[in-house]
Amino acid sequence: MRKGVMRPGHVQLRVLDIDAAVKHYTELMGLIEMDRDPQGRVYLKAWTEVDKYSLVLRAAEEPGMDFMGFKCISEEVLDNLRAGLVAFGCEVEDIPAGDLQDCGRRVRFVAPTGHNFELFASKKQTGKWGVNNRNPEAWPRELGGMRATRFDHCLLYGPNLAETYELFRDVLGFDLAEQVLTPEGKRVAQFLTVSTKAHDVAFIEHPEPKFHHASFYLDNWTDVLRAADLISMTDTSIDIGPTRHGLTHGQTIYFFDPSGNRNEVFAGGDYHYPDHEPVTWDAESLGKAIFYHDRVLNERFLTVLT
Ligand SMILES: [Fe+2]
Repeated sequence: MRKGVMRPGHVQLRVLDIDAAVKHYTELMGLIEMDRDPQGRVYLKAWTEVDKYSLVLRAAEEPGMDFMGFKCISEEVLDNLRAGLVAFGCEVEDIPAGDLQDCGRRVRFVAPTGHNFELFASKKQTGKWGVNNRNPEAWPRELGGMRATRFDHCLLYGPNLAETYELFRDVLGFDLAEQVLTPEGKRVAQFLTVSTKAHDVAFIEHPEPKFHHASFYLDNWTDVLRAADLISMTDTSIDIGPTRHGLTHGQTIYFFDPSGNRNEVFAGGDYHYPDHEPVTWDAESLGKAIFYHDRVLNERFLTVLT
């Protein structure tokens, strides 16, 4: 049952070289730099997003994800969800408004996988970038690179998937859209949605908490192919694709930012409503579930994590 969590609101990634990262996310992926803060963090957005930013880059010694934040529909909902997290047994940290530029208070918690998540209800809205909200044109002609349209989801590796699903379902109102089960019935991958999207966050079983990828949406398959061309033109490190996922059936390509964080851009894919039964893949079909055409996992998919 939905609880008032609307969508992925932001992800903060650690990068080794902030200038190289900004160039990658703006010139190659087509995100827009919106702000910087006194700590040196850089705030970016994809053009269709109404909030001021969805990606925060922080210079650090090690790559990876600091946290992923979900936007809730109101401050009252945020209070209710905070109480739910505490009742579930989560340790909760209250982060005051303004810690992230133009963002209201955030409620930080650690999921049983070990990843930092947070909830917030208020962020400055700057509207879609490059188009007005009245009689809007189809797209801004100034867009560069892959012309990513929105931050879509993260895939995270970590332990305790069952407890994490319980938390996201019972406290935050997510549904299980797709899963991978072993022959013994153990769930080793779970794709969770709080919307009609195929997934808003996904988890794969792994002994320690790691970041697999942050994904951004493109309009169509032609744009995925165009992204592949741009990856070659810029000598960007590619992981796999363009191809199709079996899970969610999205059309996808994976590549790496200059710090080694994996990115995905994708188009299409399935949709989900709360009355849909979860789609189940058997673990022996995992290759086809991840890479529908190759039907085998490449070693990097399982082992290159930040
Ligand atoms: Fe993905």
